[in-house]
Amino acid sequence: MNDSTRKEISRLVIDIKEQVQYLEELGVETLAADLPVNTFNRVDKSISQKTKAGGEHSDSPRVDTLKRPDGITTKSPPKNSTRQKDFLNSTRISSVSRPSKEIQSSNQDSDKKVNPPVEKPMTKTQTLTESLFGDASVSLPKTDETLEKIYKEIGGDCSRCVLCEKRTQVVNSVGDPDADLMFIGEAPGADEDEQGEPFVGRAGKLLTKIIEAMKLSREKVFIGNINRCRPPGNRQPVPEEVEQCKPFLIREISVVRPKVIVVMGNTACQNLLGTKVGITKLRGNFQEYYGVKVMPTFHPAYLLRDPRKKREVWEDMKMVTDFLANNGSE
Ligand code: URA
Repeated sequence: MNDSTRKEISRLVIDIKEQVQYLEELGVETLAADLPVNTFNRVDKSISQKTKAGGEHSDSPRVDTLKRPDGITTKSPPKNSTRQKDFLNSTRISSVSRPSKEIQSSNQDSDKKVNPPVEKPMTKTQTLTESLFGDASVSLPKTDETLEKIYKEIGGDCSRCVLCEKRTQVVNSVGDPDADLMFIGEAPGADEDEQGEPFVGRAGKLLTKIIEAMKLSREKVFIGNINRCRPPGNRQPVPEEVEQCKPFLIREISVVRPKVIVVMGNTACQNLLGTKVGITKLRGNFQEYYGVKVMPTFHPAYLLRDPRKKREVWEDMKMVTDFLANNGSE
């Protein structure tokens, strides 16, 4: 073994140790192992295989898969390594066919057009359009209203949509009204409906862990949902329900003016950004919403079903932490 191979191996070991530490912080308990192979092979699959999975609930795994001499199959290479960067550049969604900015900005009026049939490469930060205010590339509207005013207007007995019939209570957002970071989910579940606070059930506890792994706390961020009332049986809110509730969330965003919004899962991502592009494609790439950076990532409830996806969420959250630490530059 020559010197450069030795150096490469020790660099890999350091990278792997770091990666394992991050995974432990997120509570990942197992890593998939495979039969030993002799060479460091990338498992090559076509882009179309990589991206055919549309959304969060798809079973198709991302194919960021490496087989290593020790037989462990990793989902992506060790953090920070040059190899990882090359690898990510060659496989991540940012380099895979994505809808182009031009197509999107020339089709601002309808969801259908925002999800064009022809996909072109996407830039690192991409602007998606939002149907309520029009052009999402302009900055957030200025407002001097308060969260209290918004909650008063919503009212405890809101009956703007049918969700009021089965809910226990309206679940408003919580957290720091001056937060730099905001998390948006889909709608309250049973625990949230009972306790009147977003993300307090099992998925919420995992979200709290993620926030803490980012060296933040629930009190220092702002947490809300697209819809404030629990849909019966935890079904997804339908467009008429979203239409009634989302304007209040947008008003909250204008009050809080976060630097980054993390949208968790398809429902939050697609409804905030006004796109039909799935979370599997969008996650890990900053989007923009009225000048605010938006990071799409998987919903914590999905992570409970498939803990292997925690790694991707952690990568996404690292990008968010780095962005905030760099004071707003990617
Ligand atoms: N899932 C969500 O999307 N929101 C919550 O508040 C809880 C679970």
